[in-house]
Amino acid sequence: MFHQLLSLILLTAPHAISACQSHVSKPPLLWLADLRAGSAHIDSDVTPSLGEAPGRRLIRFEEGATPIPVSLDEKLELEKSGLRYFDVTEVDVEVVFRERIANDRSSLANRAIPSAPTHQAQVKPVIATLSQANLKTDLAELTSYKTRYYKSATGASSANALLAKLQTIASSAPGTGGAVSVSSFAHTWGMPSIIAKIAGTNASGAITIVGAHLDSINQANPASGVSAGADDNGSGCVNLIEAFRKLVAAGFKPTNPVEFHWYSGEEAGLLGSAAVSTSYSKANKAINAYMNLDMTAWLQTGTTPQIGFVSDRTNAGLTTFTKKLVPEYLSGVIATTDSCGYACSDHASWNSLGYAAVYPFESITQYENPNIHTATDTSTSVQFSFAHAHEFTKLVVAFLMELAL
Ligand code: BES
Ligand code: ZN
Repeated sequence: MFHQLLSLILLTAPHAISACQSHVSKPPLLWLADLRAGSAHIDSDVTPSLGEAPGRRLIRFEEGATPIPVSLDEKLELEKSGLRYFDVTEVDVEVVFRERIANDRSSLANRAIPSAPTHQAQVKPVIATLSQANLKTDLAELTSYKTRYYKSATGASSANALLAKLQTIASSAPGTGGAVSVSSFAHTWGMPSIIAKIAGTNASGAITIVGAHLDSINQANPASGVSAGADDNGSGCVNLIEAFRKLVAAGFKPTNPVEFHWYSGEEAGLLGSAAVSTSYSKANKAINAYMNLDMTAWLQTGTTPQIGFVSDRTNAGLTTFTKKLVPEYLSGVIATTDSCGYACSDHASWNSLGYAAVYPFESITQYENPNIHTATDTSTSVQFSFAHAHEFTKLVVAFLMELAL
């Protein structure tokens, strides 16, 4: 992918610039290269701790690396550059560290992962109700905003409209009697994340979560560029909306709780999922599993439809199990393996806290959508396939029912 190529260029750029020169006066890509190489000037009066220095963000390029303070302008340059980073300003570093040292959550989750699907009798009737047409309608609404950039007014409007849509679905639930709830999760920036919950009969049971990022980005012009973000990641968002709609309509009453998350700020460094997962971790919520939906609609012409399960920063046992759902419940698509090689989406937030995550992706890297992060990531391309995306809604329903019933 082109992000990787750009990073490679940055990584291999000569770092001849003296360590204490101010990076702000340099061409952006040079100081970015300095940052990546760890030779950038860091203001001595800025301590990399939480909540300090308004207008500054803490970023890191690798998990576990020391956070580097950057200004908002510098962060904007980073967003444009395609260089990959985590924004950890909102993350309680201490909590992340403690969890990582303990690192027993994955093993807990591993023990609970079934070896094969067993709930066909309940899952198949719900899958039969899933609508491809609803994906289209819901996506048309999401892509009607100029951008869903996490700092934009239209991004915030899109989240509020989603909240209203989910509330309507929740209030139409037959006999769910308060078991379905929808809320927004506020952030320090304008656009909230949105959370929908279906309570379990065992209220304190481990939660099964499906998540997708709602924000979009025009990488060349984040603040004012057009970004419909149809595939990245309107597609994953509408999968979750339709799965929620039909599970609620079916009166789904799981044993253990399930949750649907629509994150803000993924494109700016996994911000929303970092905030939500850290808050869950601090509250000691038991998590069963997390499934990430990010890009589900691109089908390269002339290729076999496949779901590429991302093999890095995910749980191997959970991935093996989720792959088994594909021949059981989906049609015309095969399960294969893909990798990001870096913290490319929100599964990394959950994974870094020791929770079991799985990430089924629209294809393999070779056939991925080349239009993401530009104004041309729309649903009008012939390679944008609602039929392909529809298979992912089935996967969401199967995953939630198999793991939470
Ligand atoms: N959907 C992408 C990640 C992606 C792109 C996965 C192509 C697989 C193939 C995601 O929204 C994204 O753009 N992530 C950023 C990283 C993030 C930490 C800012 C990226 O890949 O540059
Ligand atoms: Zn993206």
